[in-house]
Amino acid sequence: MKFLIANWKMNLVDSDNWLLAFNENFDNSSINNSLEIVICPSFTQLAEVAQKSFFKNKIKIGAQNVSENPPGPYTGEISTEHLSQFGINYCIVGHSERRALGESNSDVKNKVKKLLSKKITPIVCFGESLEIQEKRETEKFLLSQLDYLLKDKDLDINKCIFAYEPLWAIGKGVAADLQTINTSISYVKKVFDKNNSSLTVLYGGSVNKDNSPEILSADHISGFLVGNSSLDGKEFANIAKNF
Ligand code: PGA
Repeated sequence: MKFLIANWKMNLVDSDNWLLAFNENFDNSSINNSLEIVICPSFTQLAEVAQKSFFKNKIKIGAQNVSENPPGPYTGEISTEHLSQFGINYCIVGHSERRALGESNSDVKNKVKKLLSKKITPIVCFGESLEIQEKRETEKFLLSQLDYLLKDKDLDINKCIFAYEPLWAIGKGVAADLQTINTSISYVKKVFDKNNSSLTVLYGGSVNKDNSPEILSADHISGFLVGNSSLDGKEFANIAKNF
């Protein structure tokens, strides 16, 4: 199964226009069992997007974050129970933009567990900074981010989707080179395979319609998590055509 996931982040997206442009440029009847398309809008757009029949039938909905706590006195937070009410299928966790706001590896693990308990698939982001890459410590760093999940025997990592997103490639307009993507994803697969798991790993970071065919040819890659290029329905449709 391949995945194409849109991360709309905190952008204002007109979902009607988006849908129109997407439909004009992509024959959604061609979405089959081997490609899953997921849109992750802001919390305030979840209901509106989930209600559109097109999305209901063909495209799945994801959230961009979730609380690790149960419903209760947590001002400004959204629980997994809230997400379940909207029929949300996926949720991004550990995005670097959230880690920059203080989300720790342990928070990520707790969120993943909560999501799995509600049968919502976590999309777990991981990736190194430029500084770490320059110090040639990428593998050590990636392992430190993922070890939290690996070591927890109660957590089925095969029920998660992982997204390798090197920080230095996010929102920069230039994606990571194929060799870096291959090396990092192969390394993570190798580590996880020791535990007999078959892992879904996506790539994220400046994916667009032009670079997506080449990146899709990377070893072991199962698709993309797309930020900027997912904000325009036409551009996103053109990426979908490359699967
Ligand atoms: P980008 O964002 O495609 O704009 O680089 C990707 C992401 O942050 O998930």
